[in-house]
Formats: sequence, C-alpha cells, structure tokens
Amino acid sequence: MDVSVFGTGYVGLVQAVTMADVGHRVVCVDIDANKIKQLQRAVPTIHEPGLSTLLEDNLKAARLSFTTQASDAVAHGSLIFIAVGTPPDEDGSADLHHVLDVTRTIVGLMNEDRTLVIKSTVPVGTARQVEQTAREELSRLGKAHLCVRVVSNPEFLKEGSAVSDCMRPDRIIVGTEDELARSQLAELYAPFCRNHDKLMLMDNRSAELTKYAANAMLATRISFMNELANLAEILEADIEAVRKGIGSDPRIGYHFIYPGCGFGGSCFPKDIRALLHTAEHNGLPLRLLQTVSDINDAQRHVLFRKLQQHFPDGLAGKSIAVWGLAFKPNTDDMREAPSRYLMEALWREGATVRAYDPEAMSECRRLYGYREDLVLCPTRDDTLLDADALVICTEWKTFRVVDFDWLASKLRAGLVIDGRNLYNPQQLANAGLLYQGIGLPQIAPQASQS
Ligand code: UDX
Repeated sequence: MDVSVFGTGYVGLVQAVTMADVGHRVVCVDIDANKIKQLQRAVPTIHEPGLSTLLEDNLKAARLSFTTQASDAVAHGSLIFIAVGTPPDEDGSADLHHVLDVTRTIVGLMNEDRTLVIKSTVPVGTARQVEQTAREELSRLGKAHLCVRVVSNPEFLKEGSAVSDCMRPDRIIVGTEDELARSQLAELYAPFCRNHDKLMLMDNRSAELTKYAANAMLATRISFMNELANLAEILEADIEAVRKGIGSDPRIGYHFIYPGCGFGGSCFPKDIRALLHTAEHNGLPLRLLQTVSDINDAQRHVLFRKLQQHFPDGLAGKSIAVWGLAFKPNTDDMREAPSRYLMEALWREGATVRAYDPEAMSECRRLYGYREDLVLCPTRDDTLLDADALVICTEWKTFRVVDFDWLASKLRAGLVIDGRNLYNPQQLANAGLLYQGIGLPQIAPQASQS
C-alpha cells in the first residue's frame, strides 16, 4: 500500500521502517531538514536495535523515502500516519497543536479522500477533534466533497525493543467505526498478523483510552511493588522473595513487578499526568493513579535518601560512582531517568559524580555540559577511582558480574546502593561491603575491607 508518515521522531520512524520492510511504499515527512538529510543518508536519528539495517535496506529498495515536502507525502499516501509530538502542557495535559496543524496541512493539500491514522499518544476525544478540524477546513477551502476518515491506532513500543515490538506486536488496536478505514488498516497490518489475528477493532475513544490504561496499569504495578519494597525494609523481609512468590501466580505474572528507583522515560510519567488531567477535567479525579504518581515521585529520591543516611555529616566533598544513566537499559534516553534525580541532588549537596553508562554518555554531556562535579568515565571500573560509594541506577547487563572483593578494595566507605537489586546481598556482605538494595534485608558486612 502507499503510506505516508508525518513526523520522523521515535514512533514515526520505527513505524515507517517496519511498514516498508513488509513491502509497503512509505514516504516520511518532517519539518526538520537536518533530520531528513541524515535519514536520506541512512543514518539513524535515534539509537534502537535493528533500526539501522532496516533503514538502509528499505532506502536501497526504494520502498522508503524522506522529504520535507508535505505535498509529496499527501499526494503519495492514501493512508497518512500522524506521528508528531504531543508534549505536555504546564498542567500535564497533552499539547495537541502539532497534531491539529498537521491535520490542517494535510487537508489543505489533499485532492482525494484520505485516511488519517493517529499514532501519537493523544487524549481521549482527539480523533473527534481531528475529524472536526478536517471537516471545517475542507468546507472553508471549498473541498467539502472530500472525505477524511480518522483512525486511532496507538503504539505500544518499548524503547530498546521498538523495532521488534513493531514487527511482532502483541495486539494492534484500531479505533474507528468507518468500515472502509477498518479494511484499509486490516490490509496494512496483514503482514504483521500472519500467525494469528492481532487486530482489535473498537471505537476511537476506546482505542485512545486503551493506550493510557495500559501504561497506567503497568505503572500501578511498579508503584505497588516499590511501596511494598519500602515496607519490606522496615519489616526485614526480602522483596525479591516476595516478588517471585507472587509472580508465580499466573493471575499476577512476573512482568512489571520489579521494585526499583522509580519509573522514568518519556512515556509513563507523561501519560500518567495526561490521564490524570483528563480525568480531573471530566469530573472524576483518579485517586488510585494519583497515588501511583505520588509514590513514584517519592521513589525517585530513594537512592539519594539511602546515601544521606550513610553520610550523616553530609555529602559535600564526597565522590560517588554512578553506574547507569539511561532510564533503562538498551537506550541512551535520560528523560526522567532516576540517575538525574540522584545526580542533581548530589550536586546540590556539593558531591562529585563519577558516572558511566554504555550508551548515554553523550546524552548526559548534552544535558549537563562540562562541570567540575561531573566526571564521565570511559569504563565502568574507572568510576571507582577514589570513590566513596557506588550507586547503581540502571540494570545494564555489563553491571551484573563484579568481583566484590575487588570492589570492596576500591570504595572508601565500602557502600553499594543498588536501585535495581542486581546482586546477592550475602556475597557483598561476605566481601565486607555494606549493600543496600530496594526492599532487601540488611546483612552486616562480614570481612574487614582490605
Ligand atoms: C513504556 C511501555 O512499556 C510501552 O508500551 C509504551 O508504549 C511506552 O512506555 P518504555 O517507556 O520504553 O515503554 O519503558 P518500559 O520498559 O515500559 O519501562 C518503563 C519504566 O518502568 C522504566 O523506568 C523501568 O525501569 C521501569 N520499570 C519497569 C520498573 O521500575 N519495574 C518494572 O518491573 C518494569
């Protein structure tokens, strides 16, 4: 099929390359000329496993092209994806002006019927707003005989596995009551539904709400576990044993019940704020979700609080090794990352951070620039030079295997604070380290430090 995609950000780009890879002809448009130039040369603008190959292959095969000309994209695609940003307003509500601007642009340029597929995460009611905007614009331009169909088709991509999530989706939500649009989307997604039908048809508003409900449910599981972990610490129970114990119940399952230093990233926090805003605005404040969000706000400071407890005379002049800057592994994204809350608090107290991340070093430099109290180290182990304590913020694989005796010889205060519960507490205690995870029992260090 001929498909166009407005917006070559994270969602738009991944959607575009995967559609091209199954044989559709895809034209992508973006107002950022530099980005388009880079993509035309097959240089990915985001770090995502598998993306680079798909980009190169499909450009070569001429199934994929990039342009800044909206007119080319509107002429090309009978299906037009809208994948532009919906940044949060100050009150947490999603700002729709990019989505509505693109709608007006498309309507202004179209000379045939078009189906608009909203891929951006948008508040419930947006599809209706897009439809109304399109209709008004069509009649203003004397093109009222043309038809714009609007489909809500939210994405469920996880950073770090976006390409494979898109290639092998768990479900494809198609929100529209228009029969023709339904059959167009069924044809588009048929190559992704070869083993079983993943298409779920519903109305626009339910599709829009499904996206928020999924993220809200996952965030609720995390905050629940984080609160329980904090209780486990007081009760001297082991949250990791509890996690396994409850996860084995198939009604609960093992996914998204890992306690940690708070959820971050570009989606959960933003989507939760937006859903809270929508609910409030419609006269039904969501009490449970508000608490989920409050618990997360507090949990983001848990690493710093634990450090503070160990240095009663303050952290000024201390040197803290930080492993992991990205909000989760396999990405360089530091949006709302726990590491940021920790580092910023440490800097306020006058401590120095010695940090390492396998991917997010340049992102960290971009965010914080050059400053004396931030040393970006070339390797994980370099962070430990003259460090008082180590804090783990992200569960990268390369942090899993450590010689704890060696680690104990490096850390002046012999303290390891682990926001991801990577290690067996007994092993660290045996090496003479004071180890604090999230919701783990305290074991007194057994050997003296060398
Ligand atoms: C999420 C959703 O999973 C995806 O479906 C949606 O489209 C976008 O938002 P993403 O932001 O890439 O994807 O990250 P995800 O892997 O879901 O993790 C979100 C956050 O939760 C991370 O900060 C992670 O560390 C945290 N998390 C996850 C936990 O603290 N515990 C868990 O058990 C799982």
